[in-house]
Amino acid sequence: MCGIVGYIGSEQAAPILLEGLEKLEYRGYDSAGIAVINNGEINARKAKGRLSVLKEKTNSGKDVPGVTGIGHTRWATHGEPSDVNSHPHLSNSGRFAVVHNGIIENYMALKNRLISKGFEFTSETDTEVIAHLFEYYYKGDIMDAMIKVIDRVEGSYALGVLCSDYPDSFIAVRKASPLIVGLGSGENFIASDVTAILKHTRDIYYIEDNEIVVLTKDDVKVYNIDKEEVEKEVSTVDWDVSAAEKGGYEHFMIKEIEEQPKAIRATISPRLKDGRIVLDDVSLTKDDIKGLRKIFIVACGSAYHVGVVGKYIIEKMCRIPVETVIASEFRYCDPIVTKDDLVIVISQSGETADSLEALKVAKDHGARVLSIVNVVGSAIANASDDVIYTWAGPEIAVATTKAYSTQLTVMYMLSIYMADKLSTITSGQYKQYIDDLEKLPELVAETLKNKDQIAYLASKFYNCHSIFFIGRNLDYAVSLEGSLKLKEISYIHSEAYAAGELKHGTISLIEDGTLVIALATGKELFDKTVSNIKEVTTRGAVVLGLTTEEHSMTGIADYTITIPAANPMFLPSLSVIPLQLFGYYVAAQKGCDIDKPRNLAKSVTVE
Ligand code: F6R
Repeated sequence: MCGIVGYIGSEQAAPILLEGLEKLEYRGYDSAGIAVINNGEINARKAKGRLSVLKEKTNSGKDVPGVTGIGHTRWATHGEPSDVNSHPHLSNSGRFAVVHNGIIENYMALKNRLISKGFEFTSETDTEVIAHLFEYYYKGDIMDAMIKVIDRVEGSYALGVLCSDYPDSFIAVRKASPLIVGLGSGENFIASDVTAILKHTRDIYYIEDNEIVVLTKDDVKVYNIDKEEVEKEVSTVDWDVSAAEKGGYEHFMIKEIEEQPKAIRATISPRLKDGRIVLDDVSLTKDDIKGLRKIFIVACGSAYHVGVVGKYIIEKMCRIPVETVIASEFRYCDPIVTKDDLVIVISQSGETADSLEALKVAKDHGARVLSIVNVVGSAIANASDDVIYTWAGPEIAVATTKAYSTQLTVMYMLSIYMADKLSTITSGQYKQYIDDLEKLPELVAETLKNKDQIAYLASKFYNCHSIFFIGRNLDYAVSLEGSLKLKEISYIHSEAYAAGELKHGTISLIEDGTLVIALATGKELFDKTVSNIKEVTTRGAVVLGLTTEEHSMTGIADYTITIPAANPMFLPSLSVIPLQLFGYYVAAQKGCDIDKPRNLAKSVTVE
């Protein structure tokens, strides 16, 4: 939630800050603001609404002079979206300006104390306490003030702080919220995410919790909370700048849908050597795998849906019990996790608050944690025993597509890898899985060719009030994702049901003309799902069937989407494609803001 940027150099800061914020808008887009130091004074400009409003207000930044500044794009938590609640927040004297991504949990207690000391608050935000705390603790040394402030605040934060006494530098810090530093020549940057600075530099520092960064135009120094300098390693980002641009597509979502074959290949290729899966990044030994009592898969949203697929395939291939749990539930259900368990945490952003906290619960119980993450150096990646990066590249659209697909791919690879170590599959089966895995990017590309039919179906059904998705086993797992994709971007109510479960209550919602999207890709359960389709058509439903070219739904469904036949275990990667496209085209027909759906943000760093 929320994105922060900071710039110091010789160029005018405001246009650079606004450009950076544009790349971070996926993190929050209900208001934005910048603050720039000029002639020893901080000038802050803020605006409710999309970044375009702030741009207009500042003549694309040109009206705000100065070469040192910070910026923020907000997803409101404390206080409604408004000019006054937008960041940066200023201290009463105007000496400090603060941008913040995260939540200050003890802000009420701090606020009351600061009010009793005479500080005046203008906003309803938790962040404003930080600006006043700086003022309160500042005795002429910004670093000392920073150390005192972070000692007092509880919660998560990435902070960028300007002080008018230091016109040639600014300071930043993080705890449990992302922060990177971009190293330029004669200019330096901070940002929540590399996409914001990629245009200027590829050399970055990943900042760790409680590291304090002091930036000048020619230098960046990183300190620990004892004011000792920390040696940082420069990482070079190898993404192409175009990876974070729309590149001629109307929306990031459709671009990212199209990128899936490439992304899946990028996940598979570095881990396949001479026909074998090599997980160099995982230290789990054969004995560790053999000793596993149970596997938990913990995640939120679409990543959780990958976990639902994971349960079916790991249990089938490895015969290890798997429980897939929503992270926000796992945290508080007093889970029976032991040191003999593996907890797999799945997260695109690597910063989802509930997933991160669930990870900590797992570690407190002594379990080993393996995470499947896209964003390198993120909090979840850093806190895990092992990380498998998905290498999907930047995902900008709020609704995930390529990250989901690459997470699935990692899940397949991990299952095959573990099954091999456990000898629950034969060497012949292993070889077959690898052969089929290598074909996956091509099959996904083939499935993507069916866009016209999906766009046509979307044009028929975009006026529906409610749409049901049904399926069994892996088809059920994919139904969950199809339903989420549709509802989050098109705002059409939708539910996914295990096909056999519908008749236990929910079938009462089926009436004449209700659209039911029925997934029946699996061979073994095809006939069972067909029986469930009959149950709904008898009650007036219109059925859109989704199956492989090995089956026919003529006379069963009103419309059929056909995907290529493939290894049954990998079918989720194919069946999800038409569902992503269906959600996309329905939302497009309705004129929705596809990349930035209402009320949402890409990374959810609050509980
Ligand atoms: C839906 C979507 C969300 C995320 C969820 C977890 O399209 O993107 O449901 O999957 O918020 O986010 P990460 O994977 O970043 O932990």
